[in-house]
This record gives sequence, C-alpha cells and structure tokens, in this order.
Amino acid sequence: MTTQDRIKARIAVIGAGLMGHGIAQVFALAGHDVAIYDAFAASLATVKDRILANLRDLGDEEGAVARVRPVAVLADAVRDADYVVEAAPEDLALKQKLFAEIEPHVRPDTILASNTSVIPITSIMEGLRDRSRALGTHWWNPPYLVPLVEVIETRWTSPNVVAWTMELHAAIGKKPAHVKKDVPGFIGNRLQHALWREAIALVEQGICDAATVDAVIKASFGRRLAVLGPLENADVVGTDLTLAIHRTVLPDIDGRGSPSPYLEKLVSDGRLGFKSGEGFRKWPAEQQAALRARVLRHLKAARGSD
Ligand SMILES: NC(=O)c1ccc[n+]([C@@H]2O[C@H](COP(=O)([O-])OP(=O)(O)OC[C@H]3O[C@@H](n4cnc5c(N)ncnc54)[C@H](O)[C@@H]3O)[C@@H](O)[C@H]2O)c1
Repeated sequence: MTTQDRIKARIAVIGAGLMGHGIAQVFALAGHDVAIYDAFAASLATVKDRILANLRDLGDEEGAVARVRPVAVLADAVRDADYVVEAAPEDLALKQKLFAEIEPHVRPDTILASNTSVIPITSIMEGLRDRSRALGTHWWNPPYLVPLVEVIETRWTSPNVVAWTMELHAAIGKKPAHVKKDVPGFIGNRLQHALWREAIALVEQGICDAATVDAVIKASFGRRLAVLGPLENADVVGTDLTLAIHRTVLPDIDGRGSPSPYLEKLVSDGRLGFKSGEGFRKWPAEQQAALRARVLRHLKAARGSD
C-alpha cells in the first residue's frame, strides 16, 4: 500500500471518551472513514451527537459526522482498518489486553497506535506478535483545537511506520513531532512538568503564592511561548548568556526526583483542585466555568492563526 492510498485511510478509534471522540472528529473532518469502538454502549450511543455539537460550535463541516461509524464489536471495528488508535482508559493491563485482542483481526500492514499520556509505549506493545507496526501517538486535549501529536517510536518500530504516521497526521492538519526514544512523558509532558515542579517549589518555599506564580508566567514568557520556543529564545539572547544564567540559577532550582511534599499534602488533605473546589487555590463553580471558557476562547482564536 502506498502512502497516497494510506492517506485516504480507514481509521479505527478504540474508546469514545474525551480523547477518542475528538480524535475521531479530526480524522472524519479530514475526509477519512472512522469506525469507533467503546466497551460501554452509552458512550457509543452519544458519540455522534458529541462530535456534531463540537463541529457546530467550531463552525466546521457538520456532514463530517456521517463518516463516523460507531461499532459495538471490537473485531468489526478494526477488521478493515489501515490505522488503529487506542484511547481507552490509562491502564496498562487494559491497553495490553486490547492490543492482544485487536492484532489477530487486522491486516499484517495495519498500524497500531496508543494515545497513552504517560505509559511507556514499549510496555503496552511488548506482547504483540509484530511490534514493528506499533507506536505511540500522543494527542492533546481537546484534540480538535490543540495542534500537537507526538509520534513515539519504540526500539522495534519500523522507520516506514513512523514516517507514514507523521505524514498522516500532517495531512489531517496536526503538527506531528517525532519522539525518537520512548521515554516517560515523551517531550511535551517532560517540559510541562519540569515547569510545574519549580512552580510548586516557589509556593512551597514561600517565595510567592500560587496565583502569583500563574500571573508571572501568563504576563511574561507565557505570552511569547506560542511563537518563541525556549531554544529559539536561548539563541536570541545568546548561548553564552544562557550558560551564565544557568551557572547562577540552576543550583537553586528544584531538582528533586520525586513529587513535592507540598503536593503530596494537598492530595492527602483532599484539596484535589476543581473536583473538590480547592487545590493550590479555591475554585468556586463560577470561577471554574470562567477559566474553562477562557481557555476554550483562547484555543479557538489560536486555531484561526495557525
Ligand atoms: N484527557 C486528556 O487530557 C488526555 C490527553 C492525552 C492523552 N490522554 C489519554 O487518552 C486515553 C483516553 O483518555 P480520555 O481522557 O479520553 O478518557 P475517558 O475516560 O474520557 O475515555 C475512555 C473511554 O474508553 C472507554 N472504555 C473503557 N474500557 C474500554 C475498553 N475495554 N475498550 C474500549 N473502550 C473502553 C470508556 O467507556 C470511555 O468512553 C488515556 O490513555 C489518557 O491517558 C488523555
């Protein structure tokens, strides 16, 4: 099968939850036929309505929903697929079991991908008969508004499978990034959580409160981040200046290899964030709704500028 054929691919999405329905939507909007499977009938029964509501809200082609086919039997969902992407719950044993069930029903050249957030792709795929066809594709929420898809290679993945998957995601309007080694957190979450670790340490050490950490980021380098990456920025200011800054600052930045005790105490105290109404800060329902709306507005506006 050539790349051209593959780009008109038949897609199977496993799991019709938050990520799965959004991933199906993006493939369908780009013209692909999508079968979507979920173990729970209620999730399958609502998936087309959820996709249609998103398409309406975004002003995208509503007819795209006709290309999405909910399927209640896993083998039927994957049988004709060129590409299978799994977005079932974040549970290693469940994902391993799903791929073991899927592999006997797909063609030898069907590509198998997992959208896991943090589980090593190597662990998920190690039981497959053909591990050269398997890789990770890490989308970000919401899949139809955040452009990045990290394409994660394991030591077994065939270079052709990586290349085709990168091309497929570029062709549907995503920005694929090749992760050459299957490391925990891939690229995006490693960077994000390096920043969160220091953000928590600043609060823990009494340097400022949580609202100030967020305000500082949003009013400074956060403003530039969408158009100026850190390594571009380092080149702009000079690698010599970057080195001098690191010599002074890095010895003082949090380098602990385990979660902060401050974070552990929040969790043990039941301060879980939005779900309990308080985490680092207090979150009344109207403030939660306002924050969610602000993020969505921002992401929609950014989509227009891609
Ligand atoms: N939520 C995020 O921001 C985000 C971002 C990137 C990656 N991910 C990853 O994507 C995956 C899915 O996350 P989500 O947020 O969509 O979860 P979710 O709970 O919203 O959706 C999971 C879906 O899988 C279904 N399911 C349960 N058991 C199943 C089975 N045996 N077979 C098929 N489907 C089954 C559930 O009914 C549900 O519809 C996880 O691995 C998660 O870590 C999530």
